[in-house]
Amino acid sequence: LNYQVPRTRKEIFETLVKGLQRLEYRGYDSAGVAVDGPNKTSTDSNNNSIRLFKKKGKVKALDEELYKKNSLDLEAELYTHFGLAHTRWATHGEPSALNSHPQRSDKNNEFVVIHNGIITNYKELKEYLITKGYEFESETDTEVIPKLLKYLYDNREDDQVTFSTLVERVIQQLEGAFALVFKSQHYPGDAVATRRGSPLLIGVRSEHELQTEQIPVQYNCGHIKEGVQEKNSHNRSDSTINSVGDGRAVEYYFASDASAIIEHTNKVLYLEDDDIAVVTGGKLSIHRINRQAGEDPVRAIQTLQMEMQQIMKGNFDAFMQKEIFEQPESVVNTMRGRICFETNKVILGGLKDHLKEIKRCRRLIVIGCGTSFHAAVATRQILEELTELPVMVELASDFLDRNTPVFRDDVCFFISQSGETADTLMALRYCKERGALTAGITNTVGSSICRETDCGVHINAGPEIGVASTKAYTSQFVALVMFGLMMSEDRLSLQKRRLEIIEGFKVLPDLIKNVLSLDKKIKEIAQELFQQKSLLVMGRGYNYATCLEGALKIKEITYMHSEGILAGELKHGPLALIDKHMPVIMIIMRDACYVKCQNALQQVTARSGRPIIICSQDDMDVVKNAYQTIELPQTVDCLQGILSVIPLQLLSFHLAVMRGYDVDCPRNLAKSVTVE
Ligand code: G6P
Repeated sequence: LNYQVPRTRKEIFETLVKGLQRLEYRGYDSAGVAVDGPNKTSTDSNNNSIRLFKKKGKVKALDEELYKKNSLDLEAELYTHFGLAHTRWATHGEPSALNSHPQRSDKNNEFVVIHNGIITNYKELKEYLITKGYEFESETDTEVIPKLLKYLYDNREDDQVTFSTLVERVIQQLEGAFALVFKSQHYPGDAVATRRGSPLLIGVRSEHELQTEQIPVQYNCGHIKEGVQEKNSHNRSDSTINSVGDGRAVEYYFASDASAIIEHTNKVLYLEDDDIAVVTGGKLSIHRINRQAGEDPVRAIQTLQMEMQQIMKGNFDAFMQKEIFEQPESVVNTMRGRICFETNKVILGGLKDHLKEIKRCRRLIVIGCGTSFHAAVATRQILEELTELPVMVELASDFLDRNTPVFRDDVCFFISQSGETADTLMALRYCKERGALTAGITNTVGSSICRETDCGVHINAGPEIGVASTKAYTSQFVALVMFGLMMSEDRLSLQKRRLEIIEGFKVLPDLIKNVLSLDKKIKEIAQELFQQKSLLVMGRGYNYATCLEGALKIKEITYMHSEGILAGELKHGPLALIDKHMPVIMIIMRDACYVKCQNALQQVTARSGRPIIICSQDDMDVVKNAYQTIELPQTVDCLQGILSVIPLQLLSFHLAVMRGYDVDCPRNLAKSVTVE
């Protein structure tokens, strides 16, 4: 939205499309935009018209469509404009132009909406609206929203009814999760946005940053204050708000993720569930559903630390590749200011106030999905050792399916790169309801999990764009081990172990660089494997999580079948798969499981298996039994998994490239799964 400096329609298209491209990693089977039709200088009398452009496929296809079919004057200068753009990952209805967003109320586009999330009661609403004569054109759950809005508008009793009041009435009928932004011909220039369960933020670009002296437009400074992003504090409280802003906004950006808008502004405010944000006449205000007088909320405008270069690919072919190679720095960023290598103290600012309570707890429950779950598996053993507490690791979906008993004296950790994964968020709410202390380990400041947990740790790995998670995993791993170190600081019997681990952290970035230098060799191994159908990854102890995570990476981006196998289970079934044709990767490091892993190796070679072995440098006993080896520097046993996962990240990357797949956008997957 722009209230002072005119923008050409072409610039508006470019802004919308670029924003979508930055968000494409979240889901990408189709995309669409809505813009204002011919402007007031046009001879077209219907000057509030809304134009929709929608296309199946990637955002690039939409971009081409915009310029191909567009009868709008691209050079027209617009002072006030409100455009919508959306990239979809299908939940209801196959990917198609018709099913993509914006969804509309009718053929005239009176009301249009974009939606992130899922409406679970859409069938009932649809049936009702059909009985009222409304016709549906898509198979989406979303379409009920603009139709319901139009129904309420058509049947309004008050001619002065505001756009936000209508939206408020609509969302009271909705069940499920949503972030919604609305546009209407009846309220030209007005924007209404709201959320429940799905993230939504508003970027504010002020007059000052645009360096213009045009007429100021105030935003509702009574309700919006300025604050600074608190890196180590999860539970943002009003005390972090340090001044009242009365800036003069000229442009507002609504987005589900800051990376879409960071090139325009780093000043953002995060909406809470059931907030309704309205821009009308250039003023932004936020209110709650069914608010009582005087109850308007305060939302802090935060200054994000994100830099543009962090979300650009640089010299790499894919974001995933860039993120793999960033790991020497990203693990340092996770440790920065938290581990003191002189005093061997570890302080996690976001947890320290709750340390006493955590130490008294009955057990730790660590919950996540996908890669984040694997970070919990990877650190379980060291957490048990350092905290001397029982540690349960749980997949969020299964944890909920089982109605797992949770008690007031449990401490529950929620691991999530995005901080928005629906299953993990639901598990968080479930544990909160039962009175447990909740802690988040996330990579996304301001995310739902950050905001809803009692305390937590930001892993500070920097934006992760590739759908297949890499640097977030190693940083989650580091954060969880640091938590163990903090918990064991006053345990005399554990000091030797603590020091060993802290020393291990000190040299970790260099060891990661060392592993990354094996890229060429790993590429050669990929050359041998890329036409295979299946790939087994086997190991045990501290490296079992690497097998699960490595197999997940392979599945996600190469579409090969892959399975992470606990070597201890080999003889209970997987051994039947082994013959000279089945590719097997084994992880055999010099740790407490070394002898047992050697046994597994014997069992594999005895069946003519030809294992590719990830092992310690110069381990001749292993090398002589291997078909191929990837030799890694040795580190402390409990940190070895950080190094052993990297060859598998690289291998999956090369396999996917050789098989001709889009590494950053694997089919059917999305970076952030905000639906159950
Ligand atoms: C999706 C992604 C995975 C990710 C998982 C959990 O499935 O494709 O890469 O590991 O969600 O995401 P989270 O953001 O909660 O870590």
